[in-house]
Amino acid sequence: MTSNTAISEQAREILITNDRGGYTVPTAGLYPYQWNWDSAVAALGFAQFDVDRAWVEIETLFKGQWADGMVPHILFHKSDPGYFPGPDVWGCEGPIPSSGIIQPPIAATMARFVWEQDKGLGRERLAALYPKMVKWHNWIMRWRLHRGAVCTTHPWETGRDNAPDWDNTMARMDASDVGEYTRRDTAHVNSDDRPTKYDYDRYIKLVQMGRRLNWDQAAMLAESPFRVADPTMTFTTLRAARDLQVIGEALGEDTSGIAASIELLVTGAETLWNEELGGYDSRDVLSGEWAGCLSNASYLCWFAGVENAKMLARLRDVMTRVPFPVPSNDPNAESFDARRYWRGPTWAVVNLLIGIGLEDMGHKTEAKALADKTAGLIKEHGFAEYFDPMNGKAAGGGTFTWTAAVWLAWAGRD
Ligand code: GLC
Repeated sequence: MTSNTAISEQAREILITNDRGGYTVPTAGLYPYQWNWDSAVAALGFAQFDVDRAWVEIETLFKGQWADGMVPHILFHKSDPGYFPGPDVWGCEGPIPSSGIIQPPIAATMARFVWEQDKGLGRERLAALYPKMVKWHNWIMRWRLHRGAVCTTHPWETGRDNAPDWDNTMARMDASDVGEYTRRDTAHVNSDDRPTKYDYDRYIKLVQMGRRLNWDQAAMLAESPFRVADPTMTFTTLRAARDLQVIGEALGEDTSGIAASIELLVTGAETLWNEELGGYDSRDVLSGEWAGCLSNASYLCWFAGVENAKMLARLRDVMTRVPFPVPSNDPNAESFDARRYWRGPTWAVVNLLIGIGLEDMGHKTEAKALADKTAGLIKEHGFAEYFDPMNGKAAGGGTFTWTAAVWLAWAGRD
């Protein structure tokens, strides 16, 4: 059996190998650019052995921030023909070529953790980032709220690309005129582990629409058929607001605006409670329909500082039904597919966020059980992008940055 020290050495090696100079790629080949929430987790990983490099990761991400405050989901630092859709498809005009959508805003939370590793070194770096992080937060509050919950305008924004949460909304979209395009992802990994063509047509259709509307948020709000209030965006935004408040106070800033955001988001989070499902769910704000999905994002309530006894009971239940950490979809759901990306597999990164939340809210036993299960999974099956929740088998890309970071910062800790 490989020792934890040897695995930690491999994890550091992955972060260093995936470093492209100021930013890391999620994994070589499949994802050759800087992804927003991957990068925030990479910073947490680096912070375990190189705090300066951790700051650089977040600083590079914010170099891509648009004038209006938006921080894109992908920064295309150097063009790479191995990825589709690239900068030419998105047609965005930020300071660095980028996509036109966001990802779960966990950067402020990770910045807080990096700062806590070394407050002396971190204060100046944190102070420089703080106004930028607040500006992004305000952008989300300005453009994405529905009854206080945060909406996604593209499945890719939630980071849970093909989750069943979007099935009903996507079924109402017509993508018959999307045109010809060549996917690159299935050239790198098994197509059974990836979203289907039906899904991809709709992803690209939404990109084409955003481009046609010049990524103008008001125009997209008026026209887009895709607007779903979701637990990933809502809980991570609420958590970010709480961390921005702590950071702001430490820096002696006026945080009254952030306090108001927190209040609103707390109310919004409860609009995601689906009583019939017995869990936090996604709701299509245009049709008013529930998705009816208990996903790994449903369990991010604690990460956001939201307590819920029914969710705790559900967590304990799902942990007895799968031998590995929390899966991306409930194994009893009809849509459950153990291999296909966000329709069943276990993602170490989401378990990290669930675990942080459980620990913060005093659920130490559950937090430890989750960390131990995640550690066991990585030890046996490597630093995969995601895993089959029934047999633990690795799926998707390998030598994955955020899986390595999860090991270093949480699962593999002594
Ligand atoms: C996929 C994942 C997303 C991640 C990206 C890069 O699109 O669904 O969550 O950020 O890959 O790893």
